[in-house]
Amino acid sequence: MSDLTCWMYISTATIPRAHAAQVIDAIVAISRGRNAALEVTGALIFSGDMFAQIIEGPAEAIAELRASITRDVRHREILTMADGEQNRRQFADWSLAYSGTALFVARELDRIRAARASEPYNSDRDLRRLLGELAL
Ligand SMILES: Cc1cc2nc3c(=O)[nH]c(=O)nc-3n(C[C@H](O)[C@H](O)[C@H](O)COP(=O)(O)O)c2cc1C
Repeated sequence: MSDLTCWMYISTATIPRAHAAQVIDAIVAISRGRNAALEVTGALIFSGDMFAQIIEGPAEAIAELRASITRDVRHREILTMADGEQNRRQFADWSLAYSGTALFVARELDRIRAARASEPYNSDRDLRRLLGELAL
């Protein structure tokens, strides 16, 4: 039996654009250490205004991280796109894959977020694909 769980969300950043790079570097540095210690893997993308992230790992670790991330004031309007059990890791090699700011994904993230209510299955698939393509 596996207790591999995931949480995937889109959120709105509250950090000033001018400081975004430093703030995100700090988030990624902390996350890589903590995620590795918790056997969590995942990916993060930043569009300039929005974050999207997936984390995957043991249910208890995901619950703990989800609580930390949810109360983090560096973002708001956290919209869960997927959560629950997962068969295998999509980001097995990454404690947190991050490839820098990708401004061109803003429109795609908006579209995926808006489609979530009416097309949850497609939104889940599209966001996973976007995270997989960008977060290397
Ligand atoms: C968009 C975003 C993604 C984050 N992702 C992670 C993550 O994957 N792992 C992690 O340990 N912290 C992550 N953080 C930082 C946590 O919110 C938190 O600041 C940090 O883990 C320290 O936890 P604590 O505030 O409960 O002490 C993220 C923060 C933001 C804003």
